[in-house]
Amino acid sequence: MELLLLTLFLTLFSALSVSSTQTIVQGFPTLTPQTSLSVEKETDFLISPNRTFSSGFYKVGTNAFCFSIWFTNSLNKTVVWMANRDRPVNGKQSQLTLRKSGNLVLTDAGGSVMWATDTFSQGQVEVRLLDTGNLVLVTNSENVIWQSFDYPTDTLLPTQLLVRNTTLVSMRGRGAYLSGYYKFKFDDNNVLNLIYDGPMISSIYWPSTLRETVFYFGRTPYNSSRVAFFNERGRFRSSDNLKFNASNFGVGPKRRLMLDYDGILRLYSLDGATGLWEVTWQPGGVDVCKVQGLCGPYGFCRYNPLPTCSCPYGFYRIDLSDWSKGCSPRFNLTCNSTTTNQLDFVMIPNMDYYGYDLNTYGLGLSFESCRNACLIDCKCQGFVYSLDGKGECFPKRTLLNGFQMLDLSRVAHVKVPRDIVISHKGKVLNTTSDLNCSAAEVMVSSGGGSGISGGGEDTKRNGFMKLLISFVGSAAIIEMVCIGLGWWFVLRKHVHEELVNMGYIVLALGFKRFTYAELKRATLNFKQEIGKGGEENEYNRLVQFVRQKIKQDMLVEVIDPRLNHAYSDGKLETLVKVALMCVGEDCDTRPAMSKVVELLSGDDEKNIDDKEGDN
Ligand SMILES: *[C@@H]1O[C@H](CO)[C@@H](O)[C@H](O)[C@H]1NC(C)=O
Ligand SMILES: *[C@@H]1O[C@H](CO)[C@@H](O)[C@H](O)[C@H]1NC(C)=O
Ligand SMILES: *[C@@H]1O[C@H](CO)[C@@H](O)[C@H](O)[C@H]1NC(C)=O
Ligand SMILES: *[C@@H]1O[C@H](CO)[C@@H](O)[C@H](O)[C@H]1NC(C)=O
Ligand SMILES: *[C@@H]1O[C@H](CO)[C@@H](O)[C@H](O)[C@H]1NC(C)=O
Ligand SMILES: *[C@@H]1O[C@H](CO)[C@@H](O)[C@H](O)[C@H]1NC(C)=O
Ligand SMILES: *[C@@H]1O[C@H](CO)[C@@H](O)[C@H](O)[C@H]1NC(C)=O
Ligand SMILES: *[C@@H]1O[C@H](CO)[C@@H](O)[C@H](O)[C@H]1NC(C)=O
Ligand SMILES: *[C@@H]1O[C@H](CO)[C@@H](O)[C@H](O)[C@H]1NC(C)=O
Repeated sequence: MELLLLTLFLTLFSALSVSSTQTIVQGFPTLTPQTSLSVEKETDFLISPNRTFSSGFYKVGTNAFCFSIWFTNSLNKTVVWMANRDRPVNGKQSQLTLRKSGNLVLTDAGGSVMWATDTFSQGQVEVRLLDTGNLVLVTNSENVIWQSFDYPTDTLLPTQLLVRNTTLVSMRGRGAYLSGYYKFKFDDNNVLNLIYDGPMISSIYWPSTLRETVFYFGRTPYNSSRVAFFNERGRFRSSDNLKFNASNFGVGPKRRLMLDYDGILRLYSLDGATGLWEVTWQPGGVDVCKVQGLCGPYGFCRYNPLPTCSCPYGFYRIDLSDWSKGCSPRFNLTCNSTTTNQLDFVMIPNMDYYGYDLNTYGLGLSFESCRNACLIDCKCQGFVYSLDGKGECFPKRTLLNGFQMLDLSRVAHVKVPRDIVISHKGKVLNTTSDLNCSAAEVMVSSGGGSGISGGGEDTKRNGFMKLLISFVGSAAIIEMVCIGLGWWFVLRKHVHEELVNMGYIVLALGFKRFTYAELKRATLNFKQEIGKGGEENEYNRLVQFVRQKIKQDMLVEVIDPRLNHAYSDGKLETLVKVALMCVGEDCDTRPAMSKVVELLSGDDEKNIDDKEGDN
């Protein structure tokens, strides 16, 4: 009797412990023939033996699912692989089935096959998710007949090989899981590249081989084995000699190498405590704004302070969710010999459209000849003129790869009907587009590459201040910053935190050919250069003009109308005065940077912040 009781007790105990472990360990270890995972059952997923990875249906949209693999313990499921990213299945009745023949098949509600491994085996097979994140089909003799590692999407995991026939392809956008246009792969020359391969254009953007050969970047085209991978310690090696280590090198952190939807390749490490990902490597020399085709035709990229796509005045964004579609004109341009007098150009300072030159006009052209040559040439959509004094004229057959940077001494001119320019009235940019890009946040807020953690408005702002401060460190542009900072304080928030450059002030005043680069030159060498050329004279006039307006209490005339009077007059006056101090004729009367910061960041900062609080 006692024995019976004891046996009963033991049986009960073991049954209890089994059921309790089953509730903890959710997910199936394997999928066996003629069994399925259903999209409708949340408990239907595979889990790797040590629970690092899970695999099942991942929701990519309303009623749209992709069969995926993700990190079990990242804060939000971080997907590392998808079977059917371009053909999602329905949220009802879809299932993943291992057929008796050895074919793993994903079917939609109607039973149609949306994806399959197309494998066949005479013996019994099963599906397993390994602790490496590799989903494999194994025969009963332990032969792997198919593995997800051979078909990466946008992510490479430790020990997963990138070989000659595999490519990482980015997602289309944030939260848009379908295949995007950025690719990471070996090119025909055996070198690993980042490539933009869009519907209209295709170009390599890393390593930049336009001026240097691959050898300059320490790569070699001579090893044709074409294999790359990184190990558990975070050490990456490739047959083309690309090598790097994760900044937190060593066994322990979970890592993934991902080609992000912004076209940047990043090595991430999982912070076990927070479940957040930290960037532990990304290639140098990749300038987000120079990613070719990023902003599409006519569009241009600038730092706002995050990279942002904009359209020239008179153009609009074709698709707010897809930058690469670019901008479309709000007008029809008719160009023939009789219409040239109805054409003009919209000017965008510190700006270049890279490539697509009509190489018909040469060097050493005056601005006027460059402009006229483009005006009468119907193939010419616009031109870029260099302000370095060499008379470099770049007429453009296509306006693509636009980017605007404060230290760029080039001005882009986009051909438009004359009436557009007349209605222009000081506006250059359409500022409606924002980049929702974790990547950009990382770049700006982390400075030294410390990671994404934090985020939020304050981090962004601090990041931007850091950027400004490092910018200020450069003596050559200190005076520009002095001005820029002032305007930035006024415009910040009121025009979507836009980084404002002198182009605005200049255009608001109607000095059409007056740019930051000229200002920079003028302020650097003010005394020597003033009066030498027409542009410096204009600069002088600008300053005089603003001074006069202040005296006459007519500040409103020099302010960009877009501000919509969203500023207090007193504060503005201070800022303009500071700006003018910064460009004083006498170097000695110009305030030191510390003084400027004091003037601007003291009460003003507080007031502005108070005002923001009201919004
Ligand atoms: C996780 O997802 C939630 C809900 O979609 C979102 O609010 C949160 O910001 C996400 N967290 C991270 C780190 O992406
Ligand atoms: C799970 O296995 C992987 C691969 O062997 C290993 O890198 C990882 O550290 C393991 N994780 C845990 C939690 O044991
Ligand atoms: C790449 O080639 C290997 C070996 O020929 C093959 O098994 C694999 O399926 C190929 N992968 C892709 C993505 O075509
Ligand atoms: C080519 O690269 C592979 C992989 O990195 C390496 O094992 C091999 O030794 C290299 N071959 C030569 C000739 O350098
Ligand atoms: C990565 O770390 C290993 C081990 O410390 C070292 O041998 C190797 O040179 C490092 N590679 C690079 C590219 O720094
Ligand atoms: C441009 O031309 C097209 C077709 O001729 C016409 O549909 C469109 O309305 C025109 N657009 C403007 C802004 O005039
Ligand atoms: C030029 O274009 C205008 C407007 O489309 C048209 O009226 C005119 O006939 C054209 N002239 C020539 C020479 O083609
Ligand atoms: C800027 O773009 C927005 C949205 O596309 C549009 O409504 C607005 O009219 C544009 N403004 C200018 C000046 O082109
Ligand atoms: C960016 O994100 C904000 C909210 O985070 C959203 O309101 C906005 O529409 C997004 N912009 C684009 C272009 O996706």
